[in-house]
Amino acid sequence: MSMPMHDIQLPSPIPELQLQKHADYLISYATDKDEFTYCMTEHMRMSGMYWGLTALDLMGHLERTNRDEVLQFIAQCQSDSGGISASLQHDPHLLYTLSAVQILCMYDALDIIDIEKVVKYVKERQQPDGSFTGDIWGEVDARFSFCAVATLSLLGRLDSIDVDKAVSFVIKCKNFDGGFGSKPGSESHSGLTYCCLGVLSITDHLHLVDADRLGWWLCERQLPSGGLNGRPEKLPDVCYSWWVLSALTILGRLHWIDKKSLVNFVLACQDVESGGFSDRPGDVSDPFHTLFGLTALSLLNTEYPLKSINPTYCMPEYIIERLGLTPARLDK
Ligand code: FPP
Ligand code: ZN
Repeated sequence: MSMPMHDIQLPSPIPELQLQKHADYLISYATDKDEFTYCMTEHMRMSGMYWGLTALDLMGHLERTNRDEVLQFIAQCQSDSGGISASLQHDPHLLYTLSAVQILCMYDALDIIDIEKVVKYVKERQQPDGSFTGDIWGEVDARFSFCAVATLSLLGRLDSIDVDKAVSFVIKCKNFDGGFGSKPGSESHSGLTYCCLGVLSITDHLHLVDADRLGWWLCERQLPSGGLNGRPEKLPDVCYSWWVLSALTILGRLHWIDKKSLVNFVLACQDVESGGFSDRPGDVSDPFHTLFGLTALSLLNTEYPLKSINPTYCMPEYIIERLGLTPARLDK
């Protein structure tokens, strides 16, 4: 069989999972603050910390991190408006507000920020049609609906927004193929599908999706290499192992995917020398793809010693249980 233009060939042999190297890679990424890549990623530091800390927690290495330093940084990133920024002296945004709240839940330290002000900031982002802007500048995207709903539910404050309107906006982003896009009428994309299903899972509105149709579209994201893409005709990428598998798990249809070939693809994306995962075999690894390689292996319930990940929140399951949250999922 000839390979489609948008697929890749896996290296041979496929390497074993290098957990110790991945943990060491993430620890040194956070410690070598003069490193070029560390400096270049300042504009998204808060999310970078969330990706790295979540990955370390899944591998059982959270104790190696500097809790006090992280908490102090987060407190300094909360602005007067209540929102939280990616880094010091940056503007607040819903993306980084969610990442910060996720980290604080992991460290059981929500009390170090002003929660009332966070709630106010999130509430002010909701538009008359139920959508959310990411910050005061006004760009609307369904991913910000997820950030808003997930943040407030982690804080136990979902009642402070108009949930019905938030849901009706997300439903307007649904397309005829079953997938969701960033706005009404935008092309289906698996990342946005995760975000929209996340909103429906948290607010218990999953009955509004056609699970078989969407499950089918998500499974079509798997290519002969075993990897998953985000949209038709795109290359496979490790992060889509998360966006697609989490969506299938929420839909109760994870068993529709070819698990063995996907595990092989994920393992092939490791940097076996320096640690970490990259988007595709041979590329440079980063904390984002490292988290999503590990979360994919966790969701696939492989024999590896990884903690389970919650498919709705992308946080370790034990944290979601500790918070008493029960995001909805469909049955098989
Ligand atoms: C691909 O983006 C991914 C998405 C659109 C989903 C982003 C989701 C969030 C920001 C919500 C928070 C996430 C978690 C895990 C808690 P891209 O712009 O890289 O897409 P491309 O691959 O098409 O370029
Ligand atoms: Zn990617």
